[in-house]
Amino acid sequence: MSARSMLKVRPMGIGDLPGVQLIERSSFSTPWPAHAYRQELEGNRLAHYLVATLDRAIVGYGGIWVMVDEAHITTFAVHPGFRRRGIGERLLLALLDLSIARQAREATLEVRLSNLAARRLYEKYGFRPVGIRPRYYSDDGEDALIMTTPPLLEGEMQGRIVELREMLDAGPSPSSTADASDIGEAMVPDDAAEAEGVLAETSEARS
Ligand SMILES: CC(C)(COP(=O)(O)OP(=O)(O)OC[C@H]1O[C@@H](n2cnc3c(N)ncnc32)[C@H](O)[C@@H]1OP(=O)(O)O)[C@@H](O)C(=O)NCCC(=O)NCCS
Repeated sequence: MSARSMLKVRPMGIGDLPGVQLIERSSFSTPWPAHAYRQELEGNRLAHYLVATLDRAIVGYGGIWVMVDEAHITTFAVHPGFRRRGIGERLLLALLDLSIARQAREATLEVRLSNLAARRLYEKYGFRPVGIRPRYYSDDGEDALIMTTPPLLEGEMQGRIVELREMLDAGPSPSSTADASDIGEAMVPDDAAEAEGVLAETSEARS
C-alpha cells in the first residue's frame, strides 16, 4: 500500500464480503454472518451499505436502513489496524450524506453502553443519547444506548457537518500513517470468498 494511497468510500458489493467479514470478526463479539450481509445487499431495498478502501483494500464499512424519514445505522466498523486515523469519521460523514440524499430527517442508532470509542465518535457528529434498550445485546445482556441526531437539514447539524468535513480535508490522509503490515491480501475484493459462512448465526443490529 503506497503512501499516496487515497481513502475512498463507495457502495458495498457482494465481492467485498470476504474483506468485510475479516473486519467484522475482529470488531464484534457476535459478528453478522456472510449471508446476513448478502441478504442485506440483495434483498433489502431499505438498506444501503458503504465500504472505505485504501488502494483496493477494505479498511471499514457501515450501513443504514432508511425507513420513511429516519436513517438507522445498522453496522459500522474500521479495521483494527487502521483506527484513529479519521476513517470512521469519513465513513460516518458518507452515511450522513447518504441519509440526507435519501430524504432522512434524522439519523439514529444503538450502541453498547460500554463502547466509549463509538459513543465519542457519534457524539462528535451530533448524536445525542435519547434512551436505553435494556439487555439489547444477546451475548452478554448489555444495555444499548439509543442515540439520535438533531434534524439533518437544520443549521446545527449542517454547520457541524461542514466544519468537521473541512477539518478532515485539512488533516493528513489516513494512509500517510497507516501500518499496512496487518492488512492482508484477503481484504481485497474478488479474492476467494473463504470467509463466507464461517461466522456465528446471530445478526442483531449493533449500531
Ligand atoms: C468506533 C470505530 C468505528 C471508530 O473508527 P475510527 O476510524 O478509529 O474513528 P476515527 O479515527 O474517525 O475517530 C474519530 C473520533 O472518534 C472518537 N474515537 C475513536 N476512537 C476512540 C477511542 N479509542 N477512544 C475515544 N474516542 C475515540 C474520537 O471522538 C475521535 O475524534 P478525535 O480524533 O478528534 O478524538 C472503531 O473504533 C471500530 O471499528 N470499533 C469496533 C466496532 C464498533 O464498535 N462499531 C460501532 C458499533 S455501534
